[in-house]
Amino acid sequence: MTVNKNFTVSEIDPRVYGSFLEHMGRAVYSGIYEPGHATADAKGFREDVKELVRELKVPLIRYPGGNFLSGYNWEDGVGKNRPKKLDLAWKTVETNEVGLHEFLSWAKEVNAEVNMAVNLGTRGVDEARNLVEYCNHPSGSYYSDMRRENGLEAPFKIKTWCLGNEMDGPWQIGMKTAEEYGRLAAETAKVMKLVDPDIELVVCGSSFVEMPTFAEWEATVLEHTYDHVDYLSLHSYYGNQKNNLPNYLAKSVGMDRFIKSVTAICDYIKAKKKSDKTMYLSFDEWNIWYHSLEVDKKNEPWQHAPPILEDIYNFEDALLLGCLMITLIKNSDRVKIACLAQLVNVIAPIMTEKGGEAWRQATFYPFKHAAHYGHGIVLRHNLDVPTYDCEEFNDVPFVESVAVHNDDEIVVFAVNRSEENMDFSVELQGFAPVEIIEFSEISGHDIKQINTKQACPIAPKPSDNAKINSDTLAATLKPLSWNMIRISL
Ligand code: AHR
Repeated sequence: MTVNKNFTVSEIDPRVYGSFLEHMGRAVYSGIYEPGHATADAKGFREDVKELVRELKVPLIRYPGGNFLSGYNWEDGVGKNRPKKLDLAWKTVETNEVGLHEFLSWAKEVNAEVNMAVNLGTRGVDEARNLVEYCNHPSGSYYSDMRRENGLEAPFKIKTWCLGNEMDGPWQIGMKTAEEYGRLAAETAKVMKLVDPDIELVVCGSSFVEMPTFAEWEATVLEHTYDHVDYLSLHSYYGNQKNNLPNYLAKSVGMDRFIKSVTAICDYIKAKKKSDKTMYLSFDEWNIWYHSLEVDKKNEPWQHAPPILEDIYNFEDALLLGCLMITLIKNSDRVKIACLAQLVNVIAPIMTEKGGEAWRQATFYPFKHAAHYGHGIVLRHNLDVPTYDCEEFNDVPFVESVAVHNDDEIVVFAVNRSEENMDFSVELQGFAPVEIIEFSEISGHDIKQINTKQACPIAPKPSDNAKINSDTLAATLKPLSWNMIRISL
């Protein structure tokens, strides 16, 4: 790989290391919130989970959904009266014990901003503007004073807001056509920004790239909303249903194409409107999701917080997650927000046992490495590595990699997709590398190896298989490995 200090992609937006917490399954109840748990704080939130979320270092958390959002009334989660409601999205019972104030104060404790979503499934402009007034207006109006009466004098000042969730999906409560959604989103956006002009808005793109309306949906929605919103959303989940490892590890190539396609649609509308505004992307749901699909079909309806989407991740999932993370970083000129979906128990890097331990899944570490050290300027690179063809993709590089630098260090993230050792050199043109501060790798596991609450074998280990020769890093990447190499400048 060759990088040059003068050839950059973009400064990375830390919100790319965001996550997502939906009121579903055991994400909230017996995930982050479990009164009576040995580590519960005075409000019932688990300290052990807070600790792990802080360790992951997510700067932004999307909330409260997800499909749940489209039937949710935010008023049910504020004040003293907390009605029990049916959640039609996941066929469960929502007790509303945790609502806006509880979640926002928890988010503050884990050092995360909130990416708040407004329900555009069953509701519309009025609910959305009231929620912005409740959250962000200082005082002297009905909703801002209601917030103060509910115990919070200072406004929450939430900056980033989502205009609904997956509104193109037939499964969505209040699904809409692109025309219907585009008009509603434009008017909602306009009015929300009248209440608070400082907010930023994310409009819904397609639920996934295979949707029959993909591309047409984005174009129509942007035709209506381009001037009113700041980001277009992308969602995508990946899985190894066919148990085909080379193909599975290449799925980040599909993510890259998806990002490039959506960027092209944004720029088409930009050209059509003769606009000088660039539309940025919010990849606000991405992850691996397939292990739990069969189990979930057996769930009895109308339970409170049953286990749903509790994927247990293995070593190959950790490798793909690393490739996906690198892909997001490589596209940092357009992807400004990304949310690993989700955070706790539901397709999550953090798992909890009710009444017991909290533990780190195999996917925890590649994400943690990127969230901790993937900051500063992303470098363009020339990557000259052998490639392979697989079922869905051709010319897949055996190494997926990216380099990021700040004043103090260069950080190289790399996944070796091959089953051989890979001699990997990175020429750091224009830099004066001093020494390797850290080389952490995850390697040497059976690809189906998992972490459990009893044992977490999938964790980074230090490697000394790298050295600096003048301006070049020379490293050996182990077969099927995740690698993070930090070099001081
Ligand atoms: O993250 C799980 C679900 O996936 C979300 O509720 C929905 O938006 C998506 O389909």
